[in-house]
Amino acid sequence: MTSSPLIELIREKLDIVDVVREYVPALKKAGRNYKANCPFHNEKTPSFTVNPDKQIYFCFGCSEGGDVFKFVMNIEGLTFPEAARKLALKAGVEYGDERTHAMTEADKERLELKKLLKAAAAFYHKELFSPGGEKAKLYLGERRLSKATVERFELGWAPAGGKALMNELKAKGWSRDLALKAGLITEREGGLVADTFRGRIMFPIRNQSGETVAFGGRVLDPEGIPKYLNSPETVLFSKRRTLYGIHEALPQIRKSGRLLLLEGYMDVIGAHQHGIDWAVAPLGTNLTVEHAGIVRRYAKDTVVMFDDDRAGVQASVKAANVFMESGLYVRLASIGGGLDPDEFLNEHGREEFEKKLDSAADPLDFQLNLLFKDPKNPPSSQDKAKAIGDLLETVARQNDEILKSEWIKSIAAHFGVDQSSALKELRKAALALPQEKTKPQADPARGIPQLEKDFLQLLLQYPALLDQSTGLDPEDFSHPMARKLFLALQALPAERRAKAAPLLAEQFPEDSALILGLAVTDFSSGTAPAPAAAQEIRKLRRKSLQRRVKELQSLQHMDPQQFQEYSRLMSELKSSAKDL
Ligand code: UTP
Ligand code: MN
Repeated sequence: MTSSPLIELIREKLDIVDVVREYVPALKKAGRNYKANCPFHNEKTPSFTVNPDKQIYFCFGCSEGGDVFKFVMNIEGLTFPEAARKLALKAGVEYGDERTHAMTEADKERLELKKLLKAAAAFYHKELFSPGGEKAKLYLGERRLSKATVERFELGWAPAGGKALMNELKAKGWSRDLALKAGLITEREGGLVADTFRGRIMFPIRNQSGETVAFGGRVLDPEGIPKYLNSPETVLFSKRRTLYGIHEALPQIRKSGRLLLLEGYMDVIGAHQHGIDWAVAPLGTNLTVEHAGIVRRYAKDTVVMFDDDRAGVQASVKAANVFMESGLYVRLASIGGGLDPDEFLNEHGREEFEKKLDSAADPLDFQLNLLFKDPKNPPSSQDKAKAIGDLLETVARQNDEILKSEWIKSIAAHFGVDQSSALKELRKAALALPQEKTKPQADPARGIPQLEKDFLQLLLQYPALLDQSTGLDPEDFSHPMARKLFLALQALPAERRAKAAPLLAEQFPEDSALILGLAVTDFSSGTAPAPAAAQEIRKLRRKSLQRRVKELQSLQHMDPQQFQEYSRLMSELKSSAKDL
């Protein structure tokens, strides 16, 4: 655990429960701990635990855990110094230059990459307002984007030549290696390197904190392919986890608890320009469970509005299913008239757009409306049969039991079938659904005898009990992992004992799930910790004597010394039996 007086000061001034609650508002008190659905993986029953005594968090589902710094690093995707800076601000502590604090090599590289991407965004933006960017600027004007919007999203222009950015970066002293890692330049055939984005309108893609982590680039030439090109995946950028516009939309999403999912860059930008500032979009991929997991941290309600074409409608139903399965409420809005959301906004304005949003249907009604859209042209029985299958799949993904039964009724009524046969089909559909991806984690404490585990748990929760365990020897633990942890606990200087759990978790990353899991689990025993520990020490000692006795007994011959030991152990065993 990185430590310095400054870090300790920040730690002292903050309560992990308050910090976590900002990201996980559903956090609820449960015994000594607080619990909620885990923000790091998709789950339906809470296994995410925050322990205020130890100031740690741990998820029994995905084994993610650590202290308050680790939490902010993980949830925001920050390096340690960045998280520390953020927490310092919250704690009202002055934080100097991050360079003066310890950083791993990987942290340093991430920071450098972010600086490089920031410089690249500034370059593209500057190019848009240079003579070379004239055509691009005109195009953005045609798309009715205001100067303020272009500034806000820092849109830019990547010159067509293929060397513009490379030369700029070289002149500014950036290494070619880093530019390759950032995906800004690409190796072409023959080992030549050139700008990745050429002749494209540039959209910086920002993370939740507003830092540029990648780019999307749109062709200007209508013949150009692909229409949109995205940065490759890097240590900073994963498409599966990134939503375009999330930084700009977060304040409103947090405030209102709802999120609008649109299909593309231009839709999001147009929406924000018209004051619909809770809109985001995936990056040309399907909505993923990872996206839904991020959304769930901030919003409960979602509206999906994709382009008004066949592909858009299909993709929006798919996205709605992903939201629903993650426990979010979702409604589907259709824009009609073959327009994209940004085109609709430009033509009809915000008020009309909001009417469309207000009339958004729940996923079942949305699909029913599509099917029975045209009263003059009712669906054939073949269409109906197929549609029932799709609809039941949507129902099967709904976690809300009340909605589920409403939907069954609705399907039965629309198709003139009785509810019980609809239910029977639903069961089949539910069975056919892909199962939740979170694998049950292997028990991290596999093989450690219960008694040894219990005792370690006591020590992790009440490290002062270490003073009581001086009579215990590491050899008294039969399991190597238990022995190792006991030794490490004993080695802790007294003043660091209060932080035993996060310290050990960091010292033994491979066992951190076990350590944090033990530390956050409620110690449940009728006995107070000290007498409980005394009792467990006696039992551990006795078990260890028995093991040694067995060992000696299994020898073919005992030498006199071994026999002496054997006699001594036997009498110790006899007298220890009285204490139990
Ligand atoms: P669209 O083709 O609907 O583009 O793709 P758009 O958003 O309406 O763009 P404009 O209005 O023509 O400028 C929707 C989204 O799919 C991704 C992009 O994220 C785009 O915003 N996409 C599309 C790609 O990643 N690559 C492509 O070649 C096309
Ligand atoms: Mn469009």
